[in-house]
Amino acid sequence: MKGVATLNVPSYVKHQKLIDWVAEVAALTQPDQIYWCDGSEEEYDRLCAGMVAAGTLKKLNPAKRKNSYLACSDPSDVARVEDRTYICSKNKEDAGPTNNWMDPAEMRKTLQPLFTGCMKGRTMYVVPFSMGPLGSPIAHIGVELSDSPYVAINMRIMTRMGKGVFDVLGANGDFVPCVHTVGKPLQAGEKDVAWPCNSTKYIVHYPETREIWSFGSGYGGNALLGKKCFALRIASTMGRDQNWLAEHMLILGVTSPEGKKYHVAAAFPSACGKTNFAMLIPPQGFQGWKVTTIGDDIAWIKPRKDPVTGQTRLFAINPEAGYFGVAPGTNTLTNANCMSSLNENVIFTNVALTDDGDVWWEGMTEKAPDHLIDWQGKDWTPADGAAGRKASHPNARFTVAATNNPVIDPEWNNPDGVAIDAFIFGGRRSTTVPLVTEARNWVEGVYMASTMGSETTAAAAGQQGVVRRDPFAMLPFAGYNMSDYFQHWLNMGKKLEAEGAKLPSIYCVNWFRKDENGKFVWPGYGENMRVLAWMLERIEGKASGQENIFGTTPTHKDINWSGLNFSEAQFNQVTSIDKAAWQEEMKLHDQLFDQLSYHLPKELVETKKSLEARLAN
Ligand code: GTP
Ligand code: SPV
Ligand code: MN
Repeated sequence: MKGVATLNVPSYVKHQKLIDWVAEVAALTQPDQIYWCDGSEEEYDRLCAGMVAAGTLKKLNPAKRKNSYLACSDPSDVARVEDRTYICSKNKEDAGPTNNWMDPAEMRKTLQPLFTGCMKGRTMYVVPFSMGPLGSPIAHIGVELSDSPYVAINMRIMTRMGKGVFDVLGANGDFVPCVHTVGKPLQAGEKDVAWPCNSTKYIVHYPETREIWSFGSGYGGNALLGKKCFALRIASTMGRDQNWLAEHMLILGVTSPEGKKYHVAAAFPSACGKTNFAMLIPPQGFQGWKVTTIGDDIAWIKPRKDPVTGQTRLFAINPEAGYFGVAPGTNTLTNANCMSSLNENVIFTNVALTDDGDVWWEGMTEKAPDHLIDWQGKDWTPADGAAGRKASHPNARFTVAATNNPVIDPEWNNPDGVAIDAFIFGGRRSTTVPLVTEARNWVEGVYMASTMGSETTAAAAGQQGVVRRDPFAMLPFAGYNMSDYFQHWLNMGKKLEAEGAKLPSIYCVNWFRKDENGKFVWPGYGENMRVLAWMLERIEGKASGQENIFGTTPTHKDINWSGLNFSEAQFNQVTSIDKAAWQEEMKLHDQLFDQLSYHLPKELVETKKSLEARLAN
């Protein structure tokens, strides 16, 4: 047919339904060409070279950062757009009050004209990917059709992307169809821009039919659809239906000097320290301890009998294969493992360029270089920095393969996952929430996680630094009603307890309490090991603590301070419970529960009552 790109289906693709879908999307979006990604290194290099020629990527100085690139986005396209993200379930209640909702039929009608011809003048990349090890019984497959080569190369790092996926899919395998466009068709002869995007944006999920449609953004979670859209929003609904959990959690391994290994999964909201915690370097005083990374952002967690003990436990895998991490604030002191992951084969997005072809971001070195090209391509000097103009965007990121991480856990690729000993939940709170609390039981732990709050960061529209409730760090990522999601956690706990399973302990942490001068009191980063070690000793029944209103907390003497001067007075500053502040806090829990009243589990309302009674004493 004239005007329709040839499908170019490779001979190894045997899945007719998939081929028909590619043809259908191509007929709608009208790309000039269709290209099926095989995931090879040759292909990666070729796509990168094309983007260098197009001005989308700059190749960095290979003597400084081997085989690495810098992409600078359009200034209007720098983070996930939560206010443009939709869960289109048939019933509004199934999306719940914390998600934007539109009737699926109405959304399809809205998107139809936007997607019609949206890939004109561009190549449509067919990007096959597996979330989780290829062929693993817990992995799931997706295929993303995107007109962005930047997406194709990032997906190669972030997922198991390429040809091998078709072997797993065979002729009839299930896959989640993901359609992505930057939303900027090119007219005949029109010259492209370095970072095409559209001021109209839609990030759309149809949980019932398990489809993802994304329009108008080329950035991160808006565009790399395997990540938040699939591995959290769609997967959370799969988990609800199939008795598992898809969570915004890092997974780490921690080995004691005696050689005993534990696994911990921790949910912190975006830009609140997951990548850092997952690569933690034990501080002075913790010789012989080792922390290893299984994942830095997402965990898929399923109950299974431990083959050794016969007891049911929760096993977690990292569905991703790379890290899309926050650059600013990362340096050799705060996260040396992360820094050494970034020496080669990295895609940087929205950081600054140095005169010798390397990258720089705020917080990388104490002193900024004398001259930089900032993330918007403008000259930058420290004087600009002093005037408040940042050289890198605060949400600037790196994309890097997990295998670059010097402390990658040997089990990170194990399709069976690792048995979780503890869940940690933590937000960014300058006041009120103490350093660490151990929940007395599963239900109280679920309560803590449900009512978690955090000061807002890049992806949330509106003012920064305002506290918003972010239940389970999943507010922007739950693919269904948040109250039903709480119920799912409670049900999982109840069911597992009834089966005699060993449930993980639940902890709530806050690394971010500030003093009257606005300075963090807790040193954070590697020093978080001290809190982690206390948790592990609690699990062993060795560490003491004291019970407070919300659960059990360590006293100053319960923590190993060897190698750090942290006085009892400072400790009190980060652990004190101000009853007046907590009475105000409980009013915010009320607001949350009012908002979530439809299907809100009664156990949480009862837990709140009993906590309030303790608070009143
Ligand atoms: P997403 O990838 O957005 O989900 O975020 P993340 O949770 O992985 O965030 P990341 O680890 O990249 O941390 C982001 C910011 O938190 C950086 O600016 C860090 O410097 C800061 N940070 C991390 N850990 C700590 C800590 O223990 N204390 C303090 N004060 N800041 C921290
Ligand atoms: C987050 O915002 O939590 C991220 C980055 O991990 S993004 O992939 O852009 O969502
Ligand atoms: Mn994240």
